[in-house]
Amino acid sequence: MQTRTVPSSEGIGDAARLLLAGEVVAVAAETVYGLAGDATSEAAVTRIYEAKGRPGFNPLLVHVASLEMAASVATLDALSLRLAEAFWPGPLTLVLPSAPTSRVARAVTAGLETVAVRHPLGPALDLIARTGRPLAIPSANASGRTSPTTAGDVVSTLGGRIPMVLDSGPTALGIESTILKVSDGRLTLLRAGSIATEDLEAFTGLAIARSRSDDAISAPGMLAAHYAPSAGLRMDARYVEPGEALLAFGPVRVEGAEKALAVANLSVSGNLEEAASRLFACLHDLDRLAPRRIAVEPIPHHGLGEAINDRLVRAVGDRPPNRH
Ligand code: TXA
Ligand code: MG
Repeated sequence: MQTRTVPSSEGIGDAARLLLAGEVVAVAAETVYGLAGDATSEAAVTRIYEAKGRPGFNPLLVHVASLEMAASVATLDALSLRLAEAFWPGPLTLVLPSAPTSRVARAVTAGLETVAVRHPLGPALDLIARTGRPLAIPSANASGRTSPTTAGDVVSTLGGRIPMVLDSGPTALGIESTILKVSDGRLTLLRAGSIATEDLEAFTGLAIARSRSDDAISAPGMLAAHYAPSAGLRMDARYVEPGEALLAFGPVRVEGAEKALAVANLSVSGNLEEAASRLFACLHDLDRLAPRRIAVEPIPHHGLGEAINDRLVRAVGDRPPNRH
């Protein structure tokens, strides 16, 4: 299959028609590029799993264009409604009980009784509005690779497997949505993301539990190595070894930086929002040069630093973390 990359403004009508015919299309949300399909169509959902090579036990996010559409797929209690009203549209995904009358295809939720719902921004939102359907939209990467933040990144892992990519340039935020499970008035963080956990705690006045890393069922995609680039990573690096590339943060302070195969700086000024927006692009860029390894300078853990460190630690995957 030939993959057409089309500017979003030109291709959006065609894309909506493809979706209504049960096809899949890659499109940008405010966070990362996703692979969209009609969440109410078993055929479309099957195509998403196949194109990504995603295991069937890893459920998909359902994207909606309104609170009303959210209520057609999930049951929102008072706490989830408050969160939705405050943070939607935007990069917050809520894991909620499925609505009894939901028409979402069974494969979307992979047999779970909950459904993950989010109201995105960007061209993804236009597509939901144009089709009038809730769309299943996982990140548009082959399973196990880093999330794409440009149309070119999508083509590099899904090219030839999907009919169309809507190109709207680099995504605004660059890191996926924050996933929060709401159940019985309690909040559990399933994935740190573009909204800082501290901001959600400040808004709700509730402490947010971190899901245990062995709690694979509650967020299967959070399995280690989900975000792996091909090169290994060495976290908290204080020096650069020969053959390594350097992922820097702030003014470069590590020893041997001049010997690095290449340097990508997440944010010269040490701004965590900027660093989040550049994380996957920098990893892609360095990875393309096939370095022996990528040395990563220390990155603070507060604010969006939580999500950035989470993605990096997962990228280290099964390899023993080599801390220096
Ligand atoms: O920013 C984002 O969230 C992007 C853009 C495209 O919207 N989407 C995204 O989707 O990152 P995906 O499928 O790559 O990651 C969603 C994560 C997966 O780890 C999946 O296991 C988890 O959400 N998930 C989906 N449904 C769930 C559920 N009912 N309970 C717990 N985790 C769920
Ligand atoms: Mg993903």
